[in-house]
Amino acid sequence: MQALVLTGIGQPATLQEVPTPQPGPGQVQVQLHAAALNHRDVWIQKGQYAGLKFPIILGSDGAGSISALGEGVDASLLGQEVVINPGQHWGNNPAAQGADFQILGLPQDGTFAEYVCVAAQQVSAKPAHLSFEQAAALPLGGVTAYRAVFTRAGLQPGERVLISGVGGGVALLALQLAVVSGADVWVTSGSEEKIAQAVALGAKGGISYHAENWPATLIQQAGGGFDVLVDSAGGPGFSNLLDAAAPGGRLVLYGATHGNIPQVAARKIFWKQLSVLGSTMGTAQDFNAMVRFFEQHQISPVIDEIFALADGEQALRRMDEGLQFGKLVLQIKA
Ligand SMILES: NC(=O)c1ccc[n+]([C@@H]2O[C@H](COP(=O)([O-])OP(=O)(O)OC[C@H]3O[C@@H](n4cnc5c(N)ncnc54)[C@H](OP(=O)(O)O)[C@@H]3O)[C@@H](O)[C@H]2O)c1
Repeated sequence: MQALVLTGIGQPATLQEVPTPQPGPGQVQVQLHAAALNHRDVWIQKGQYAGLKFPIILGSDGAGSISALGEGVDASLLGQEVVINPGQHWGNNPAAQGADFQILGLPQDGTFAEYVCVAAQQVSAKPAHLSFEQAAALPLGGVTAYRAVFTRAGLQPGERVLISGVGGGVALLALQLAVVSGADVWVTSGSEEKIAQAVALGAKGGISYHAENWPATLIQQAGGGFDVLVDSAGGPGFSNLLDAAAPGGRLVLYGATHGNIPQVAARKIFWKQLSVLGSTMGTAQDFNAMVRFFEQHQISPVIDEIFALADGEQALRRMDEGLQFGKLVLQIKA
């Protein structure tokens, strides 16, 4: 089969002929129609990710049809159109993943390929209203957004929400989930154009995270502080989110694009009775609930651009430059 292979740190991902994986006991082979990028793929390529191994077929997100079954798998699955849950071996504790937790696309070869094999319980029926390209945009970002917004922050209708860096894949999915839930959603971004695009998707407004003293300005515009704040940048800017939070607010952090959080004033957290919540991807229950939520509310994830599998390196560069608004998708089977 053809696959996009990364051979080392800093190397371009190149299309290569590799052996087609065959399903082992309890596994299904999925013929991928589409895959999607996550920032994780760029971190791996740059060598900024734990547990690196090469060569590796990147890709955590994929949608396709089941093309072969391993021993002991229900025969009715053959031919089904599915999305793949990239979170493997979460473990028994819904509060946090166990030591065996893995993400498809490292160490196991991922979805930037014509075929991938995963355990049969790692697939969910593709929502009928979505194309394969749209369905491929859901898995990793969707489950991360769903767990952050609902399972961790416990968002309630009517609450005021701030999604930071809305141009990000996860952030945009979080925006869609929060808007459909009847929350009052505001955003930050480095780009005025992306704020306008977020408003077109139901955000009430937004502000540049580069603006001087932006929390005070945004609180004034929004009519108060934020009950739920969702962030993946961390870094020095995290302190601004503490300022933007309403008393009793919940801040969910699922990434550290800008590194560690320096010199946070502890008083801001305790005096405002804030909850700072960490979140990473989600349980199988979170994943299935997320897929059903998108189906029930007929939400379509926003796609920035669709590339051919052979042009995956271009997609990685676009993500690295932060140019996208929505998911970057690779079309594998037309
Ligand atoms: N823990 C998990 O399970 C998990 C899951 C998925 C992702 N992540 C992490 O979350 C981060 C985002 O992932 P992604 O796949 O959504 O990446 P992405 O699509 O590349 O999005 C990154 C976004 O970060 C935003 N950003 C840049 N500087 C910022 C700042 N100072 N303040 C706020 N936002 C800023 C940008 O938003 P604008 O374009 O609007 O400026 C950019 O679009 C990565 O660090 C990734 O590793 C973690």
